[in-house]
Amino acid sequence: MSRQLFVTTALPYANGNFHIGHIMEYIQADIWVRFQRMKGHHVDFVGADDTHGAPIMIAAEKAGITPQQFVAQIAAGRKQYLDGFHIAFDNWHSTDAPENHELARQIYRALRDIPQSQGGSLIERRTIDQFFDPEKNMFLPDRFIKGECPKCHAKDQYGDNCEVCGAVYAPTDLIKPYSALSGAKPEMKSSEHFFFKLSDPRCVAFLEQWTQDGKLQPEVANKVKEWFTIRTNPDGTTSEGLGDWDISRDAPYFGIEIPDAPGKYFYVWLDAPVGYLASLKNLLDKRGQDYDAYMANPALEQHHFIGKDIVTFHTLFWPAMLKFSGRKVPDKVHVHGFLTVNNGEKMSKSRGTGLDPLKYLSLGMNPEWLRYYLATKLNNKNEDIDFNAEDFMLRVNSDLIGKFVNIASRAAGFLTKRFEGTLTQSFGEQGTALLRDIHAAKDSIAQAYDAREFGKAAREIMLLADKVNAYVDHHKPWDLAKEVANNEALHQVCSLLINAFAELSRYLAPVLPSLAQAVEAFTGNSMQHWNATGTVASIRPYQHLMQRVTPEQLDALFEPPAVVEEKVIPGGEEIAPTIGIDDFAKVDLRIAQIVNCEPVEGSVKLLRLTLDVGEGRTRNVFSGIASMYKPEDLKGKLTVMVANLAPRKMKFGVSEGMVLAASHADGTTDAGIYILTPWPGAKPGMRIS
Ligand code: 2FM
Ligand code: ZN
Repeated sequence: MSRQLFVTTALPYANGNFHIGHIMEYIQADIWVRFQRMKGHHVDFVGADDTHGAPIMIAAEKAGITPQQFVAQIAAGRKQYLDGFHIAFDNWHSTDAPENHELARQIYRALRDIPQSQGGSLIERRTIDQFFDPEKNMFLPDRFIKGECPKCHAKDQYGDNCEVCGAVYAPTDLIKPYSALSGAKPEMKSSEHFFFKLSDPRCVAFLEQWTQDGKLQPEVANKVKEWFTIRTNPDGTTSEGLGDWDISRDAPYFGIEIPDAPGKYFYVWLDAPVGYLASLKNLLDKRGQDYDAYMANPALEQHHFIGKDIVTFHTLFWPAMLKFSGRKVPDKVHVHGFLTVNNGEKMSKSRGTGLDPLKYLSLGMNPEWLRYYLATKLNNKNEDIDFNAEDFMLRVNSDLIGKFVNIASRAAGFLTKRFEGTLTQSFGEQGTALLRDIHAAKDSIAQAYDAREFGKAAREIMLLADKVNAYVDHHKPWDLAKEVANNEALHQVCSLLINAFAELSRYLAPVLPSLAQAVEAFTGNSMQHWNATGTVASIRPYQHLMQRVTPEQLDALFEPPAVVEEKVIPGGEEIAPTIGIDDFAKVDLRIAQIVNCEPVEGSVKLLRLTLDVGEGRTRNVFSGIASMYKPEDLKGKLTVMVANLAPRKMKFGVSEGMVLAASHADGTTDAGIYILTPWPGAKPGMRIS
C-alpha cells in the first residue's frame, strides 16, 4: 500500500551558513525520501530557516540591519548548498513567515483555552527574577551574561557553564557578572513569564506512553525515560519529574508576539518546530491543496530527522504541544549523532570547522562522493560518525568507482564497437544465475533503506558488485574479444554486465540520484521505480560516469596551500627578511566584522569602518580603499584586522587598528587594492595564527 509521508529535517538557525553537520542530516533524510518515492510512496519533504531569538536579533543589530534583512541574507545563501548536494526539499520556508505566526498563535491559544471539563489550561503565568541590562534596556539571555566562574575563578565565563573548569551553574552564581552586550552590571528584575505545564499529569501520562511505544530508537527512548524521574536544573542540582517550560521572552525580542500579552514573545523554541507545519502549509497552499484536510488524513505519517542535541524539544515539548492543542502528533523522530572530521572535534553549530561544504563544491568535488561516503557510514543509531579523508578516498575510488562504475566502462566499449550498442537477452547459465542473485537481494536492500541502515544497504550492494567483478575476472571479456569465434560469448558477457550494472544503479539511486539519471540515459532503463523490471535492450555510447577523487583535492579541501613562486618577485616586492614565530605572534590578527562603513568627508581615498572584533565594543578604523569598494559592498562582511596596532591620530579622527589589504608594491592603481575576507564560518574576534 502506498504511504503518505510528511518528512522534515531540523530547522537551522538563520545566523550562519550551513556547515557539514547540516549537510549530513539533509543527505540522510534526502536518501530516505528518495527511496520512499522510488517505492511509490507519496512524500512531502520540507525545511525552513529558524529565524527567531535573541542571538539573531543581536547579530542583526551589530550588522546594522533589521533581523528580517539579516535572515533574508542567510536565506539567499541556502540554495547553492541544497542544489549542490542534490538535496531535494519540496519547500524551504521561514519561521518568520505569516503561516508560522498564525499557527504558533493557534496552538498557544488552544493550549491556553483547554476547558475545565478537560482538565483546564496548560498555560500558567508566573513571575520570575532575571538579569536585566539597564543600558540596553532588556532582559539578558544566559549566554549574554558573563562573569567570573564561582568555582575556579576564571574570568569572562558564560552564564550557564565555565569553559575552563566545566562547572555548571546559574547566571546568578557568577562573580562580578556583566552584560556581554554593553558591559554594564546587570540588575535583578522580575517579570511575568508564561509556562507550558509539562509537569501536569495529563502531559506526563501522554508522554510516558508516546515516548515508549516505538516512535523513538530504543537508545533514545531509554534516555528519555530517565527524564520522567529526574531532571537537571540550570544550576546543576536535580529535581524530580518533568519541569514546566518557560515559553515567553520579554521585548525587545525577535519573535512572535503572544496573543493578548503585549510586549511578550514566544521563546524561539516554541515557534521553531511549528515551522515544520508552516512550511508544509505554505507548500500545500502553493499547490492549492487544503492543509486541514491533509493533516486530517489518518494514514499520514509525520517523520522528523534531528540531531541528538535537540531530543528534548522533539520528544517532550513538541509532541505535547501538538497533542494538547488537538493536533496530529509525530509518528517517528529519527535521531542521528554528530559528524566529526578526521577524528576531530564535533561539528559545533556555532563553529562549523573542518570540512566546508561550499569549498568542497567549489573545488569541483563530486557531491555524490560525499553522499555515498556518508551513506556507507550511516545507520539507524544515534552514534557519532567520522569523516576521514583517507577512508573517503578509499571508499570512493576502490568501492564506488573500482567495483561499481567500472562494470559499465569495462563492458560498454565492446558493445558499442562490436555490436552497435545492441544487447542480447540471453546471458548464459552463470550470467542468468548472477542476475537472479542481484534480484534476490532487492528486498533486503529495501528493508535496509527503509530502516535507515544505509551502511548496510551499501555493503550489500558492494557485495553484489564483488560478485559481478568475479564474473568479469572469470570470463575475461578482453580475452574473448581477441577471437571472432568468441563473439557470442563476448556479447553475452557484456550484455549481462550492463544489465547487472543497471540493477545496481537502481539500488544506489537514492544515494546517487545524478549518476542514476546518467545511467537512465545510457541504458534507457528507468531508475525511478524500485520495482522496475525489464532488461536493457541497447546502450548509448559510454560517457564517463564518475571521476576518481584525488589526494590533491583532499589536501586542498583541508588546508589551502600557500602560493609561493620562486625566482620571480612576487607582487613587485621581494619577500621581507625571515622572522621567527615569536615575531609573528606579536601581531594580533583578528577576524573583524564590518558593522558599518561610510565615506569620509574630505577624503577620496579613505573609508571609515566600524569594526567588531568580539570585544563587546566597536572600533573605528580608516582604510585607504575607497577607490575599490563602495561602503554598501562592505557592510556586514568579515575581514581581517591588526587588532593590537597602536591607535593613530589622523586628520579625520583616531584609527584604532588596520584592516589587511593586498596591493602591488609599485602602487599601480590598475593592479587594485583588495581587502581580505575569511572563509565562511569564521566569527568576529577569532585570532588568526
Ligand atoms: O538546534 C537548532 O539548530 C535549532 N534551530 C533546531 C530547530 S528544529 C525545529 F524545531 F525547528
Ligand atoms: Zn571554572
